[in-house]
Amino acid sequence: MAEKVVLAYSGGLDTSVAIRWIGEKYGMDVITLTAEIGGEKDMPSVREKALQVGAVKALVVDARELFVKHFVYPALQADALYEGQYPLATALARPLIAKLLVDAALEEGAAAVAHGCTGKGNDQVRFDVSLAALAPQLRIIAPAREWGMSREQEIAYAQRHGIPIPVTVASPYSIDENLWGRSIECGILEDPWEEPPEEVFAWTRSPGDAPDESAYVEIGFERGIPLSLDGKEMDGVSLIQELNHLAGSHGVGRIDHLENRLVGIKSREVYEAPAAMVLLMAHKALEAMTLSKDQLRFKEKVALEYADLIYNGLWFSALHQDLAAYVQSSQRHVTGTVRVKLHKGNASVVGRKSPKSLYSYSLATYDKGDQFDQSASPGFIHIWGLPVKTQAQVQPLELLPENLEKKEEG
Ligand code: ARG
Repeated sequence: MAEKVVLAYSGGLDTSVAIRWIGEKYGMDVITLTAEIGGEKDMPSVREKALQVGAVKALVVDARELFVKHFVYPALQADALYEGQYPLATALARPLIAKLLVDAALEEGAAAVAHGCTGKGNDQVRFDVSLAALAPQLRIIAPAREWGMSREQEIAYAQRHGIPIPVTVASPYSIDENLWGRSIECGILEDPWEEPPEEVFAWTRSPGDAPDESAYVEIGFERGIPLSLDGKEMDGVSLIQELNHLAGSHGVGRIDHLENRLVGIKSREVYEAPAAMVLLMAHKALEAMTLSKDQLRFKEKVALEYADLIYNGLWFSALHQDLAAYVQSSQRHVTGTVRVKLHKGNASVVGRKSPKSLYSYSLATYDKGDQFDQSASPGFIHIWGLPVKTQAQVQPLELLPENLEKKEEG
């Protein structure tokens, strides 16, 4: 009996060719696994195509809830944004798909798992490292990294083997999408000076064509998790879908990122992530109200590490487990409501409230009702400034415009 391999299958050209190629090269039976995580694909036809191309079995898993609950929302609570721009949609989905591959491989008694990543990207790293952490005994096959075919050769291979070639092959762009965002690469976007043409966008209206009238949305959070829109409680999948539509229709969520890949390449990545951008912004606004200054400063460092480890394929690492514990603890009072205004490509926080708010009107106000004791300030400032005053007396400062100019001349 032939050995079995479970292949992560998207329905696109690469993974369709991979079904045949693995059969020819390794003589293995290919079982495909397609994870539904919020892209626009029609699952029954993806399944049918896998079988038609030669898979012995085609699995489809609706993983949207898992994705939101155990991958997207922890990243939101951590404020994870790679290089300050990318909300990590693809990077978050890979460890989940790796886990589903492992589960299926064990269930099916497969000796190997396979994915369609090339050898130039981040995704191969995320898959391979996750797989190594979860099931080191499974062999990993990465056809697109091994076969050395050009795009043209691949299309010819597909034609030779009667593999249907999707219409998207005519498009110069490489696209990946899930609930948390959509990425577009290749074609004219590889020139970083070229503005992304309108045709690359599918989730967002052009800001110029967005309604002149702004929209408002109120997002209710509990412990850092969004639970309602405009007071209406919703499950995570629906909430993200609805926010993608609403914010996208106002042109919110386009990102143009010159990104540093883990494999040492700078690449130009265009993203659409309306819900992610609005939720990340709203979540931070609520943290600003419910966390202390010191908590906020420390959490920013954690956010940076957290985003990097997601991007770099280290989801299933001990460091992640430790940081996640910190993030969870930090969210215990991040409860309240944030009002966001959407207008022609911009999202801005215009209101926030929380039962755990640290904002004190009587301390902040300049009106009557002010309870801040101004007479305490001189004493505070005296001690705060003491080391500066002491040092300036002994070590005259160079940092004065006249001294700096003298230095330049002389
Ligand atoms: N640059 C992004 C990342 O590394 C998006 C990658 C999209 N992946 C893909 N196979 N098209 O996460």
